[in-house]
Amino acid sequence: MADVISRQDRSTSPTRPTSLEGAAVSLVRVHNFSISLDGFATGEGQALDTPFGHAGHRLHEWMFGTRFGREMFGEPGGTEGVDHVMATRHGPGIGAEIMGAGKFGPPGWQDDPEWRGWWGDNPPFHMPTYVLTHRPRPPLEMEGGTTFHFLDAAPAEALEVARDAAAGQDVRIGGGPTMMRAFLAAGLIDQMHIVQVPILLGRGVRLWDGLEALEQQYDVEVFLSPSGVTHLTFTR
Ligand SMILES: NC(=O)c1ccc[n+]([C@@H]2O[C@H](COP(=O)([O-])OP(=O)(O)OC[C@H]3O[C@@H](n4cnc5c(N)ncnc54)[C@H](OP(=O)(O)O)[C@@H]3O)[C@@H](O)[C@H]2O)c1
Repeated sequence: MADVISRQDRSTSPTRPTSLEGAAVSLVRVHNFSISLDGFATGEGQALDTPFGHAGHRLHEWMFGTRFGREMFGEPGGTEGVDHVMATRHGPGIGAEIMGAGKFGPPGWQDDPEWRGWWGDNPPFHMPTYVLTHRPRPPLEMEGGTTFHFLDAAPAEALEVARDAAAGQDVRIGGGPTMMRAFLAAGLIDQMHIVQVPILLGRGVRLWDGLEALEQQYDVEVFLSPSGVTHLTFTR
């Protein structure tokens, strides 16, 4: 395990690129993005009582078992091995997140003026969080430092706005798969952590469609976990 973790620390902490003036460049990162063996990042039939459609919680059970996952729910305990170590890389150095409309709420949330996201009054972002939607609305200031901003903009434009807000820190691309695919196709993602879960969903929204040979743009490393999931890191 020590080997796995020290290898992983090296691979996911590459030398940070610098600008011509020598300043650190803010990176665009993806963390803890879970897909099934057949490439689905969410199931079919997303709704208010089924945020991941027919996939239920099967894509994220690996995380709920870790200390990181337990802490998210205010619970003690949890494993501290490779799954935990990889999961904890989600937060440090991130100054803003961009997510898709499909992550912010169930289909049709734009018709509900009261919808404030899944996460309650104090969402777990604690930073400016940009929701891409073709039906933007005024910003929502939540407790704990999260403000949701709603943007109808191309990925590169949205990234520019989020980067400004991140004030030198990195920007996290939070998913779901449709917006992630657009950011990948536009070549905007520097580091990506994908968790391949050994389940077959058969239907839902796939991550990889249309991204043929994407791996050639990255160094790809693979870390097996005793829990059964495979962590893949894509770094350029
Ligand atoms: N597996 C994981 O780790 C993971 C992580 C995050 C989320 N998820 C799940 O993924 C699902 C959501 O994914 P999804 O693929 O259905 O949707 P999504 O990627 O979250 O959002 C796609 C939607 O965002 C809006 N959008 C995207 N790009 C835009 C742009 N440039 N300008 C304006 N609007 C834009 C459009 O919605 P409108 O046209 O309706 O505005 C589009 O249909 C949920 O079930 C969520 O729980 C899974």
